Amino acid sequence: MPKLIVVNRAGDETNIDAREGISVMEAIRDHGFDELLALCGGCCSCATCHIFVDEEWKGVVGAADGDEDDLLDSSDHRADHSRLSCQIMMTAALDGLRVTIAPED
Ligand code: FES
Repeated sequence: MPKLIVVNRAGDETNIDAREGISVMEAIRDHGFDELLALCGGCCSCATCHIFVDEEWKGVVGAADGDEDDLLDSSDHRADHSRLSCQIMMTAALDGLRVTIAPED
């Protein structure tokens, strides 16, 4: 099963299992990270699942576009490696992906 490395807002790093076919948001939420609110449940309409993708993974994960890109613009903390975690589906190619939960807006 692919591994996901999650850094919380305190800077603590945790390795979790992230089943292929679920979103990064679902993997994080299912492991009890209450910092990631994911209020809309993954419908790409709340931006409370904002994460920063590690620099080395940006090219693999890709950039936000469309509605996701527009929603990220509403965040004061948007960076060039920002993504909404509900819009990234786990695959074997993302094994070892490292993400950081963005500050709360
Ligand atoms: S969970 Fe709402 S936009 Fe991702």
